[in-house]
Amino acid sequence: MPSLNGSVVLVTGANGGIGTHFVHDALARGAAKVYATARSPRAWDDERIVPLPLDVTDGASIAAAVAAAADVTVLVNNAGAIPPSASLLDVTEADIRANMETNFFGPVLLARAFAPVLAAKKGSILIDVHSVASWYAFGGAYSASKAALWSATNSLRIEFAPMGVHVTGVHMG
Ligand SMILES: NC(=O)c1ccc[n+]([C@@H]2O[C@H](COP(=O)([O-])OP(=O)(O)OC[C@H]3O[C@@H](n4cnc5c(N)ncnc54)[C@H](OP(=O)(O)O)[C@@H]3O)[C@@H](O)[C@H]2O)c1
Repeated sequence: MPSLNGSVVLVTGANGGIGTHFVHDALARGAAKVYATARSPRAWDDERIVPLPLDVTDGASIAAAVAAAADVTVLVNNAGAIPPSASLLDVTEADIRANMETNFFGPVLLARAFAPVLAAKKGSILIDVHSVASWYAFGGAYSASKAALWSATNSLRIEFAPMGVHVTGVHMG
């Protein structure tokens, strides 16, 4: 298993409940620096935490994050959203598409954008945050987006393996 010792971690959705824990736990487990990214970055009380703007649905924002954080060795695709309705019959088409943008296209495009950065250091890590809803379809569009991300993670694991990049999917519950 790769180690977090001396790693440089980037967390998406770092202002959220679980994102904030990823930031603090990465440092507690040996990370040297954490980019705490968010649509509206906030101040942190630790000089090892670097706030960075990142909207995972915006290609220009992703490109800017790659340029600003070219030393990343651990990418945590944590940002996620829940559509207003758990019913695929009732939710609006716009909300289905928006949820796929955040929960599927965002993490996949981030993995693609950071691929050269991760591949540059053997033992780098990609962590995708799925959900128990990837397995259980109670969440409608949310479950579909997390199931799609789960599948993408499995494909990325195969593609990143020859580059020495470790890929993990987290079925949060
Ligand atoms: N909590 C659970 O029980 C649970 C269970 C299963 C899976 N998960 C997954 O775990 C992850 C974290 O969940 P959480 O409970 O910590 O939720 P949360 O507190 O709502 O945090 C989610 C974060 O994602 C950010 N986000 C949403 N859209 C974004 C975008 N376009 N660009 C960048 N950031 C965006 C939000 O940013 P803003 O602050 O700007 O809105 C927020 O900070 C999510 O992927 C979620 O689906 C959580």
